[in-house]
Amino acid sequence: MLIFSSSDKGGTGRSVTSCNLAYRLSLLGQDVAYLDFDFGSPTAGAIFEIPTLERGTRNGGLHSYIRGRATEPVRADIRTTTERQVLKERPPGSGKLTLFPGDVGGAEFSLTNEHIKKAAELFQTVEREFDVCIVDLSAGRSSALDMSLQAISPKNRPKKAEAVRWLLFHRWTTQHVIAASGLLLEENGILSCALAAGFARREFLRLVRTIRTAVPDASAFGKKTTAEQDAWLSRSDDILKTLAKSRGLGLDMLAGTTPLEPMLLWREQVIMDVDVKRRLADKATTQAFEELANKLIDDEAWEGFER
Ligand SMILES: Nc1ncnc2c1ncn2[C@@H]1O[C@H](COP(=O)(O)OP(=O)(O)OP(=O)(O)O)[C@@H](O)[C@H]1O
Ligand SMILES: [Mg+2]
Repeated sequence: MLIFSSSDKGGTGRSVTSCNLAYRLSLLGQDVAYLDFDFGSPTAGAIFEIPTLERGTRNGGLHSYIRGRATEPVRADIRTTTERQVLKERPPGSGKLTLFPGDVGGAEFSLTNEHIKKAAELFQTVEREFDVCIVDLSAGRSSALDMSLQAISPKNRPKKAEAVRWLLFHRWTTQHVIAASGLLLEENGILSCALAAGFARREFLRLVRTIRTAVPDASAFGKKTTAEQDAWLSRSDDILKTLAKSRGLGLDMLAGTTPLEPMLLWREQVIMDVDVKRRLADKATTQAFEELANKLIDDEAWEGFER
């Protein structure tokens, strides 16, 4: 399975959530590859706490591979290269967890057919080796996004190819909802690139789901909230729900929500069960990641909220 992670805005929590999903999927026994396609800022290595890869690699990462400068992209076994002790452990029954880093100093590029061919070949190769491959795209419209859509389009993918899921991340605020909807549905956005790449509208939208990230509850106001704050929050939440629905990002599109997790405000990292046990992280956070991971690999759960 190929899972693409996209967002319009930067700082939505796309990469941190995707890394946590990769980790959770590996705990579920899936062999997972994480492909850092955020070519301008490939920092997934920092989230997995791999010091040598915190800004990508200099030895032929994904960017070099796509541009024909490396025959095979570098990869790292996250559990053996991370400096986080508890992440090194491989619980019984868990699958592989492998990072394909981007390149240090990579940048935007103008897309050619050769790049698209390379990307299509790469996807086929990693899909053969891994159960789930998560591709983290840079924020907004980018060559990597266009390239990915073309590489997975019916023109370039054999009919019987594995499942594809397309995730659209956004924060639960007015501006983020508007921006995410624009990226998906407006000119030069994901849908229009997908149509140009050869997808039918309905067929492509079936692959897309949203993830609302870092959604706060009343406790964000402080320990004790006033009745006015409670009422305001409830009204604001309703306004956002109406806005999301009117912009095509309603409940029928929603894969899940992650709660605002204080630990992630200070540090981008994998939130582990041990963090909850040590009373550092909220149980609701690990639960949200786990539920989402389960849903991603369960066709029935995924189709259950089909449009
Ligand atoms: N559930 C959450 N609760 C609180 N903070 C979060 C949550 N998820 C992510 N964050 C924080 O939000 C910030 C942005 O997250 P992240 O880097 O994953 O965003 P991004 O969309 O990948 O951004 P970019 O486009 O710059 O790559 C980080 O500091 C991260 O720790
Ligand atoms: Mg990111």
